[in-house]
Amino acid sequence: MKIAIINGPNLNLLGKREPEIYGHTSMNEYLIYLKSKLPQFQIEYFQSNVEGELINKIHEVGFSYHGIIINAGAYSHTSIALADAIAAINTPVVEVHISNVFAREDFRQQSYLTKYTKGSITGFGLQSYELALLSFETLK
Ligand code: DQA
Repeated sequence: MKIAIINGPNLNLLGKREPEIYGHTSMNEYLIYLKSKLPQFQIEYFQSNVEGELINKIHEVGFSYHGIIINAGAYSHTSIALADAIAAINTPVVEVHISNVFAREDFRQQSYLTKYTKGSITGFGLQSYELALLSFETLK
C-alpha cells in the first residue's frame, strides 16, 4: 500500500520546536520507527513550508496512491486552497494533528481540510500518524 505522509509548515522542526507540545522526536527518527513497525506500507514522506508546494504534492500523488496522511500545520486553519486540492483528488486523505488542537487556542479549532477528508486523528502525539496509517488497512 502506497501512502504519502505530507507535513506542512514548521513541522521540519519536530524534536526542536516547542517540545512540551510536539515532543522530542524528529520526524526522521519517527519515520525510521514507523517504517520498521509497519513494513506493509510503502511510505513516501514530503514536508514543505510553502503552501503551493503542498498543493503540488497533493496533485502529484492524489490520483495514484492508496492514501494520503496530511498534517498541514497552521495551513489547516487558514487554507481554502489546500482544502480545494484535497477535494479535487480521489485518493482518500486522513488529517493528522500531533497536539490536541481542541484543547488549544480557538483559532486552532477549525480546519478547512476536515470536510474533504476521510477523518482526522488529533492529539496522540506522533502516534497520530501510526493510527492514521492503520486506518487505511482497517477501514476500506
Ligand atoms: C499542528 C497543530 C497546528 O495548530 C499547528 O499550527 C501546527 C501543528 C499539530 O500537529 O498539532 O503546526 O498541526
